[in-house]
Amino acid sequence: MREDIVRAAQFIPADSAVVCLTGAGVSAESGVPTFRDSQTGLWSRFDAEELATPEGFKRDPGLVWRWYMWRLEQLEAASPNLGHHALAELARLCEGFLLVTQNVDDLHEQAGSVDVLHLHGSLFSFRCASCAAPHHLTAEQRGADLPPACGVCSELVRPDVVWFGESLPWDAVEEAATASHRCSVMLVVGTSGLVYPASQLPLVARQAGATVIDVNPEPGPISSIADVFLQGKSGEVLPALVRAVADRRASA
Ligand code: OAD
Repeated sequence: MREDIVRAAQFIPADSAVVCLTGAGVSAESGVPTFRDSQTGLWSRFDAEELATPEGFKRDPGLVWRWYMWRLEQLEAASPNLGHHALAELARLCEGFLLVTQNVDDLHEQAGSVDVLHLHGSLFSFRCASCAAPHHLTAEQRGADLPPACGVCSELVRPDVVWFGESLPWDAVEEAATASHRCSVMLVVGTSGLVYPASQLPLVARQAGATVIDVNPEPGPISSIADVFLQGKSGEVLPALVRAVADRRASA
């Protein structure tokens, strides 16, 4: 077992309060593209300004709709990987565990994680862009060139995800910030740490005295403030980390 993984496990005793913040990297091994990878990242291949802003939606709702329907299909074809499963298992091993994700997929839930806080919304839910009424998509609407009309006010329906320039769901942010302030361990997995305010949570935890553990194949802003940087893919590192945590419990 890697020495750094064994060391990280020492910071996670049974009574620890863990907040885990995940980003697109945790789903990369499930075949879901990240955003900022230089070759395959969505924002290296597509224009975020056109596709992920309220202004872009107003300019060309059809383009935005078709792009999100394409992404929805990708997510539906994906299954949770060993990293998602390991985090669900880690939650069972800790007294306090809160999973906070920036991802709009449901792979944590599919792996058995419960009460996941989705800071950036979900690509499986839809609402009116004007009155915010929830909308249930039909198969026909999914294949259409334009978004459907809201059943309440007839304005256009949009995916219930957070776009650039928009506020995050207030209650989720509040809960994540409070938990980050109180936790003993902040486990950060697969995020570039470039998008505010999620990027602040590890800093909040660190300033309040928590141990920060970062899991990522590449160093970045989070690894530079982390107590332990576990360099590698989450599908490989997390199962080993959870094994090390369980082994320590068994030998205690
Ligand atoms: P990014 O694409 O910015 O970063 C993905 C991170 O995952 C990078 O640090 C990679 O090194 C890392 N990574 C890649 N493969 C990995 C693997 N197998 N295991 C672990 N890590 C891996 O994605 P996010 O940080 O999630 O927002 O991006 C944050 C937000 O920016 C997203 O939620 C999205 C985007 O714009 C919205 O859509 C609102």
